[in-house]
Amino acid sequence: MKASEPTLGSQFHVLITGANSGLGFATCCRLIDEFLDTRQEYDSITLVLTTRDSRKGDSTITRLQKHVDKLPRSKRPDGTARVSYQAEIVALDSLLSVQRLSKKLLTQLPKLDVIILNAAYGGWIGVDYWMSMRQSMSSFVESVTWPTFKLSDIGKTTKSQLPPKDSRVRRKQKTTHDSDGEYNEPPLGEVFCINVFGHYLLSHNLSPLLRNTHSFSGEKGRIIWISSVETETVIDAFSTDDIQGVVSPFAYEISKRLSDILALTSNLPATKPWVDSFLSGPEPVLIPDSDGEGQIGVSRPRIYVTHPGICSTEILPVLWILGVIKVIMFYIARWLGSPWHPVDTYKGACAPVWVALCPQAQLDEMEAKEGAGKWGSSTDRWGNERVRRTEVGGWGWGGIVGEEVQRAGRIRGAKALTQEAREDFEGLGRECWRQMEELRKEWEERLHGLD
Ligand SMILES: NC(=O)c1ccc[n+]([C@@H]2O[C@H](COP(=O)([O-])OP(=O)(O)OC[C@H]3O[C@@H](n4cnc5c(N)ncnc54)[C@H](OP(=O)(O)O)[C@@H]3O)[C@@H](O)[C@H]2O)c1
Repeated sequence: MKASEPTLGSQFHVLITGANSGLGFATCCRLIDEFLDTRQEYDSITLVLTTRDSRKGDSTITRLQKHVDKLPRSKRPDGTARVSYQAEIVALDSLLSVQRLSKKLLTQLPKLDVIILNAAYGGWIGVDYWMSMRQSMSSFVESVTWPTFKLSDIGKTTKSQLPPKDSRVRRKQKTTHDSDGEYNEPPLGEVFCINVFGHYLLSHNLSPLLRNTHSFSGEKGRIIWISSVETETVIDAFSTDDIQGVVSPFAYEISKRLSDILALTSNLPATKPWVDSFLSGPEPVLIPDSDGEGQIGVSRPRIYVTHPGICSTEILPVLWILGVIKVIMFYIARWLGSPWHPVDTYKGACAPVWVALCPQAQLDEMEAKEGAGKWGSSTDRWGNERVRRTEVGGWGWGGIVGEEVQRAGRIRGAKALTQEAREDFEGLGRECWRQMEELRKEWEERLHGLD
């Protein structure tokens, strides 16, 4: 075979959830652009796009094709042939829908290089305008970076995950019944299920495809969580007694804090048993090898967390006029020096796309020097974007006590990392991973045999 002939290693497969709008769509565009710019001319990219229905999937592909058609010829010698699309449907608040998609992709795809966990639901029912004015007067930039005035639909849970008993094929399984013969199932927080748990199950199920990446390209498969800077508003409110945020007025921020914790602690010895079981997929691969790491040590996918800064999207639905005012305020914040206001979604996609395409050796080297980071999309006053490490309460910028404190982009009252806080964060990681793995296994048992 000639060196320039395409192999499976030269075909990059990336799955992105919520690809039809906002950041998801911009991430697809940016992935295509940077892939065509930086890879060899025989490398190709397949975007596996998930949306909630086929109409949205088809229109996303049409819009992406138009995006590629508009690229200058010089940037894409035969770019069209190097980009392909696969539209898939998943509703992340339905675990059966996640299960169906996983089964389908496991039989169709040879590997997955990257999964970008982008789809999200805010769960907000409005804004406390009085509170927003007060926060704005106290600190304008803080009010549009770490707002505390969004109103959540507290306690909202998903619809029943199990189908009505009459339409089910009854199989021998451990699901319990109540006195009416209905299936009992514990409630799942809606925001938690969409933002975290649905994605968690999907990633677990698809981890064999992520592991395959190593055999084809030598790179490691990557799971990329899309988080938010807003996690810093719930450092104290986050509790392992309610990781689903069901009793909290901050379910969205808690879901994002949980993804930070899961990702940043995923490489620590303290979480290894649970992370290994999560990454082992439906067919566990924990066969010990000579260095005692188990086979998964060689091809173990990596878990990263990124955020897009603050961008103009529909995630918080408001009247159009308020939407316009919101965008103007974002630009003012940027001009006042906020590094977290890319505003434009294409700029917001900078960090996730960088983490998706960066060579593994470079990521590993950066982490070895400065620790695992939460990679954020940042801009200067003039909108020039760059990827910037983001401070995380209890972890700092890289989980290293004594690391240099950066002044820009910190929430008021942020504290330098102490040994005690670092240990607490590790404990949080251990407990969150334990609970997530337990929940996954419980639900897999309930869903067993259903589709
Ligand atoms: N915008 C920001 O400033 C900002 C800041 C920090 C973090 N983020 C993060 O960026 C990511 C993208 O957000 P965005 O601002 O681009 O919001 P968006 O435009 O509202 O996009 C959200 C996406 O998630 C999908 N989605 C919602 N519920 C779903 C469900 N039950 N099942 C499957 N998909 C579902 C939506 O599909 P439909 O179109 O069908 O509803 C949509 O494609 C999120 O993770 C968000 O937390 C955004």
